[in-house]
Amino acid sequence: MANQTTPQRRFPLRYIATFLALLASVIIGLVASNGNASPSVQEYYGSSESRFGYWLLLGNTRHCGLYRKGQLSPFPISTAHRAMEQKLYTRLELSPGSKVLDAGAGSGYVAIYMAQKGLNVQAIDITPHHIADARKNIKKHKLEDKVSVEYGDYHDLSSFPDESFDGIYTMETFVHADDPVKVLRNFYRLLKPGGALVLHEADFSRNTGTLQDVLRLSHCQNTLEEGGYQELTEKVGFKDFSLEDLTDEVLPMWRLFGVLGYLPYQLFRILGIQDRFINVMAGVEAWLNWGDGRYISVRVLKP
Ligand SMILES: C[S@@+](CC[C@H](N)C(=O)[O-])C[C@H]1O[C@@H](n2cnc3c(N)ncnc32)[C@H](O)[C@@H]1O
Repeated sequence: MANQTTPQRRFPLRYIATFLALLASVIIGLVASNGNASPSVQEYYGSSESRFGYWLLLGNTRHCGLYRKGQLSPFPISTAHRAMEQKLYTRLELSPGSKVLDAGAGSGYVAIYMAQKGLNVQAIDITPHHIADARKNIKKHKLEDKVSVEYGDYHDLSSFPDESFDGIYTMETFVHADDPVKVLRNFYRLLKPGGALVLHEADFSRNTGTLQDVLRLSHCQNTLEEGGYQELTEKVGFKDFSLEDLTDEVLPMWRLFGVLGYLPYQLFRILGIQDRFINVMAGVEAWLNWGDGRYISVRVLKP
């Protein structure tokens, strides 16, 4: 008589597949943005995808790191962040005790760096949870006497008197301007004669249709044409225009975003929901189309 063995019971694969599909839907549902085709700045930064992504990858510092040309590794990220802040500080050419405006401070890390270098910083931002976060971080660093943060839109700086600042900077915020000329006029009015304006910004003007989608979905529709910064700043009255192209020096971080986001992005494209993951889309598309954009440091002076 044949030996009768009890068939081994295998955990049905369909249960595992169902569980994974449910888990993926919950994660996608929780993290995805609401799909607004033209979000405001606050909607873009308020989406769960932005909040989660910036926290997870950058510890809520919302700017590029600066690396040696040709460097492959993006780590440690915090060192690269501080190097970018150091670059901006150097470009300002201000002595300790000078007063600067941080226009778009985010969670306050750039302002904290500037304060640690001895500058007195007035920081503004229009995203409420960034302001709250910046205040918390400044307190944690015991720099309340060197940095003050308040709600403020750089399109309307009427609460500040003329010639209030020795220097003004933006770290990846001017790209969000709806009216760049108006913003530059405001900066010009607030600077003392001889004061410096330094803008560290991505410049994705020469680009593909997909990158245009990325700009619209992250409320950056007004990045300037190549050459636009010089024309615009001179039109407002600034002099001594200088531009440093830092594109090669920010590549390691974008390569990291591109590699990490590549597979999820392809999945989101298959599902037709890539627009709801704007930061994943931005990371991958910017990396795939590297060379269609630049990362620049612009410096001008008020005569
Ligand atoms: C990419 S984040 C950079 C934050 C910070 N500079 C940093 O490097 O971590 C851009 C910031 O600009 C702020 N912002 C955008 N438009 C603004 C405006 N019109 N006035 C003031 N801040 C603005 C956003 O709320 C956001 O905090």
